[in-house]
Amino acid sequence: MTEQKHEKIDFGFKDIPVEEKQGKVGEIFTNVAPKYDLMNDAMSFGMHRLWKRYLIKLAGIKPKHKICDLASGTGDVAMLLTKELGDTGGNVIMSDINKEMLDIGYDKIFDAGLSHLVEPVVANSESLPFADSSFDLVTMVFGLRNITDKKRALSEMHRIVKPGGTVLVMEFSKPKSSLISYAYDKYSFNVIPGLGKFFAGDSESYRYLVESIRRHPNQEQLQEWFYEAGFDSCSITNLSSGVVAIHKGVKY
Ligand SMILES: C[S@@+](CC[C@H](N)C(=O)[O-])C[C@H]1O[C@@H](n2cnc3c(N)ncnc32)[C@H](O)[C@@H]1O
Repeated sequence: MTEQKHEKIDFGFKDIPVEEKQGKVGEIFTNVAPKYDLMNDAMSFGMHRLWKRYLIKLAGIKPKHKICDLASGTGDVAMLLTKELGDTGGNVIMSDINKEMLDIGYDKIFDAGLSHLVEPVVANSESLPFADSSFDLVTMVFGLRNITDKKRALSEMHRIVKPGGTVLVMEFSKPKSSLISYAYDKYSFNVIPGLGKFFAGDSESYRYLVESIRRHPNQEQLQEWFYEAGFDSCSITNLSSGVVAIHKGVKY
């Protein structure tokens, strides 16, 4: 009898069999979906809105652009991208593996009168149902750390963006100042699970979100993965002293 080797992967601070991660992450987002927007505002004191707006400034959106927002969730970024693009002949795909999250996002876009510019697509970012070189811009905001095979997701982003196109990945990262890092740790571990309990009746999902940030690669490591995936002219923009970082890569 041959011994089977079970590969493990991070799930918050735990290590679990690789094949279990996607299902567990799915459960978390299905649980938090109805309160996700409220909790984002509560946890970040509204800062996530400023970070997302900053990403749009870096995106260089032009008329007729074809844009794909991955791990789009409840659609904040898809909404901002669509407003910036306007009725210019382009469009925005919002894609997420979780239908509950995506439905909430698409409803918001519908209510804002922008649904003619947006198409929701339920898909795993590790294996996307889009042709090679389809988009001028691909974004993923606070999604990458939840994905099982992050390098594969980066390769998929490289595959679907057009030559000359841009990929922007925004994620929580490693603060550059030790004082901020200390305060951020105290806040994350002592306050956020409590906020999750208070606003969403769920501290465990928010404990995972905090822990997953600590297991995510730092700025330098993620930049290396961008180059490995085939991107050029890669850059990092730290926001709030590196609590969040925007990674940019261009496909030539
Ligand atoms: C923290 S939310 C971010 C949502 C949104 N981009 C935002 O910034 O508010 C992470 C999202 O990643 C999605 N996700 C997790 N794994 C995924 C995968 N393999 N492929 C696509 N989306 C995934 C989750 O369903 C969830 O909606």
